[in-house]
Amino acid sequence: MGHLTMLPAWQALRRHYDQFKNRHLRELFAEDGGRAERYVLEAAGLFLDYSKNRLNDETLACLLDLARERNVEAQRDAMLSGVHINTSEDRPALHTALRAPRDAIICVNGHNVVPDVHKVLDHMGAFARDVRSATWRGHTGKPIRHIINIGIGGSFLGPQLVYDALRPYALAGLDCTFVANIDGAELAEALAGKDPAQTLFIVASKTFSTLETLTNARLARRWLIESLGTEEAVARHFVAVSANVEAAVEFGISPENVFGFWDWVGGRYSVESAIGLAAMVAIGRDVFGEMLAGSRAMDEHFRSAPLAANMPVIMGLVSVWYNNFFGAETLAILPYAHALARLPAYLQQLVMESNGKRVDAMGELVEVDTGPVVWGEPGVDGQHSFHQLLYQGTRLVPCDMIGFVEPLSRYHRSHDLLMASLFAQSEALAFGRTGEQLRALGVPAARAQFEACEGNRPTNMLLGQRLDAGTLGALIALYEHSVFVQGAIWGVDSFDQWGVELGKDMARHIIREIETGIVGEHDASTRQLLGRYLALRHANGHQVRE
Ligand code: F6P
Repeated sequence: MGHLTMLPAWQALRRHYDQFKNRHLRELFAEDGGRAERYVLEAAGLFLDYSKNRLNDETLACLLDLARERNVEAQRDAMLSGVHINTSEDRPALHTALRAPRDAIICVNGHNVVPDVHKVLDHMGAFARDVRSATWRGHTGKPIRHIINIGIGGSFLGPQLVYDALRPYALAGLDCTFVANIDGAELAEALAGKDPAQTLFIVASKTFSTLETLTNARLARRWLIESLGTEEAVARHFVAVSANVEAAVEFGISPENVFGFWDWVGGRYSVESAIGLAAMVAIGRDVFGEMLAGSRAMDEHFRSAPLAANMPVIMGLVSVWYNNFFGAETLAILPYAHALARLPAYLQQLVMESNGKRVDAMGELVEVDTGPVVWGEPGVDGQHSFHQLLYQGTRLVPCDMIGFVEPLSRYHRSHDLLMASLFAQSEALAFGRTGEQLRALGVPAARAQFEACEGNRPTNMLLGQRLDAGTLGALIALYEHSVFVQGAIWGVDSFDQWGVELGKDMARHIIREIETGIVGEHDASTRQLLGRYLALRHANGHQVRE
């Protein structure tokens, strides 16, 4: 693919950056009256205003050249058609097939996977219907009132995001709790007060080998059997979602209660596979289907819109611009919607596990910085904590802000206040307030120097009509594809995650040492910490047990 930084478009961007870097959004808006109208896009029910970014037509032209020189369109088509673009694991990355219509044909190694996808969706739909209508009952005949999803990473963050975001559409009287952490406190809290006879566990794990998930699932199983007095209860209270059906069956879940998916769906891209089962049971198959349709509409836009009018492409390129030229290290996700409180956490995994890579798909060191650190909180909460740094700190923090025209609650004035804050933040971050303006407002010069906000802080503004399933699906696919575009520019494999294996491997060794009390080879610090832990734990009379 050639050296990224040697490409004509990269070099043009570097030259352009040198003469553009100090331009202020105030000047850019003043000199270009059509900017706000020109730098907007609409797709799949989402409106993106990217005019408050530090760029102009020349920037965009160079970024689009870069996308062409990196063959982003060809890479996209390869992904959408099932080519093994996950080279280090020799697999396709076909999450888009999860929302393909029934009559689509998408082949993996010559096999059309779309009928398989719909077979699982039908299985999920029938199960969701039965639980919701109380046709599916617990072992003692009581209807299910509580769902506990046990899973971590992509097997947790996705379904939790969907459940939280679409809770207004969920069936009353059926709640979902998500247990991810191996810290038993989380499981204990989830089980507290639940009637075992009305609780259904969904063990969600692509590999069905994840220590945290299996530990929690075993403990939950024991709780259920102890409470209901028989192992037979497991069949009515445990289902599994996994690409490793055999392991789920070996765990003791009946094969007909295992919802499958495939190794060509990455964990962080799996929310619309059977991993979304907990959410589907809560919101019903139809609403889940609307989410798939929203994602599909964004997929179609990504597939067919020209690069310059392609929302995920533009968002991905703008992110590269800040990351690699302005040296911005982070990206703040600020949803002005309480129901999207978990979106920053979801996107953290999506972005950082996908593009937190130091070698490219050929195994060569990448010459430039790759994925940004993603963080965020819902607005307006963040305004009263970290926005100070966004306004007056020394670092450049590009922000994605997300809001909706219609409220989800009946508190309409609160919604207007929320949206007023959203618009005010993006305006204030972009344009700031100079010392001169402050003095004109009567602020004494001595104080104006502290109050002044220089502005020129960039934001993307995403607006939707209403936070519903379709919009959520579009938002999820938008970020998936934006992450893909960035990975394609950097030439990394956005679909593997080898880095997380090292810590897992070490933990497996250390747990054996904790259990036996025999500490092996470690660095001096880890040895000391383990020694201290073992000594204090035993001194306090605790026993180490499973
Ligand atoms: O540890 C990282 C990871 O492999 C994620 O990619 C994945 O989403 C998560 O663990 C959970 O994996 P599984 O669904 O196989 O339990």
